[in-house]
Amino acid sequence: MSKKNILITGGAGFIGSHVVRLFVNKYPAYHITNLDKLTYAGNLENLKDVEGRPNYTFIKGDMVDQAFVDKLFRENSFDDVIHLAAESHVDRSIKYPMDFIFTNVIGTVNLLNACRLHWQDAGEHLFYHISTDEVFGSLGDEGFFTEMTPYDPQSPYSASKASSDHFVRAYHNTYGLPVILTNCSNNYGPNHFPEKLIPLCIHNIKHNNPLPVYGKGENIRDWLYVEDHARAIDMVFHQGEVGESYNIGGSNEWKNIDLVYLLCDIMDRKLGREKGDSARLITFVKDRAGHDLRYAIDATKIKSEIGWEPSLQFEEGLEKTVDWYLNNNEWLENVTSGAYQKYYQDQYGA
Ligand code: NAD
Ligand code: DAU
Repeated sequence: MSKKNILITGGAGFIGSHVVRLFVNKYPAYHITNLDKLTYAGNLENLKDVEGRPNYTFIKGDMVDQAFVDKLFRENSFDDVIHLAAESHVDRSIKYPMDFIFTNVIGTVNLLNACRLHWQDAGEHLFYHISTDEVFGSLGDEGFFTEMTPYDPQSPYSASKASSDHFVRAYHNTYGLPVILTNCSNNYGPNHFPEKLIPLCIHNIKHNNPLPVYGKGENIRDWLYVEDHARAIDMVFHQGEVGESYNIGGSNEWKNIDLVYLLCDIMDRKLGREKGDSARLITFVKDRAGHDLRYAIDATKIKSEIGWEPSLQFEEGLEKTVDWYLNNNEWLENVTSGAYQKYYQDQYGA
């Protein structure tokens, strides 16, 4: 295995922490530098088990700060970048769109510029950009997103991610920067911040708080266990073709309301409650503005060209996820104290 010096951005976040752990454990000959600003969503507790490893370095910093990014690249000869850092929550983007433009657009372009400037022989390097299926917009009852689906982002979050995707492709086309993109569906699993539907419901069920379901709960998402996404990122990083993009998805569509009922059943069983107890907490609330109806991924390309497919059944993944949250009470209580309380009140008025 040849040595590689890899910068992973956003490694203290939900997906990033699983990617960092996978790379640090699987590739002892690589050096992994994790750059993270540690926003509300970044948490070094997510990476306690890799702290102090000889092939791992954490750097706290802001990718929106151009001078900082330039210095980081001058002081480290990164071979490759796996870029996950972002503002990631749609509801926050509706309230604070500018944060998403700065972080997701300017932050990404700062990294692209640093690679352009510091990678003399670009052919030996890779800028791997992690994106979302939300850039494709919303599906009706039928059909799937393929890599050829035109971009049609609907929320400030997805518009900012689409913009960053366009810049990544533009730097490939214009400057020959070696890039790969992946667009993934909804992830779930350990370390997911409890502003997102699944961990929010787990937390609220535990505390007997209302489960806010937007609109009629009929929106559909395609759920993928986070470790399956991290495995896909590993495979695409090593086997993907420069200039290409790959869709990643769970082939696992769930209506929100059905998913919340399933979660309630699992929680009732785990908490020793009567079946149906937690479902009484379901509360239909005002719909998300511009709420995309349905996302569903056609993952044929990554399956046929890279050999990746999801490994975990959803029910099994949800059980594992619930177990993780119940066994990691301290993590959950820590991240839901302080600023979270204000966020929650602003969002749900409770
Ligand atoms: P997250 O919000 O959990 O983590 C984002 C991380 O980025 C945090 O650790 C945060 O501190 C860091 N960060 C934010 N701004 C930064 C800055 N200016 N400089 C450096 N670090 C900064 O997000 P996530 O859910 O893990 O998503 C990771 C990536 O994957 C994002 O690019 C997101 O768009 C994409 N994605 C997420 C999903 C999903 O279901 N969560 C699905 C597809 C794609
Ligand atoms: O599709 C990939 C995307 O999935 C990622 O790019 C985003 O970073 C990630 O946050 C996620 O976006 P969603 O908006 O789909 O995830 P969220 O968990 O916020 O919502 C899932 C669905 O549940 C969505 O239809 C909105 C609904 N919802 C969400 C919350 C937080 C509710 O009904 N109630 C809620 O309180």
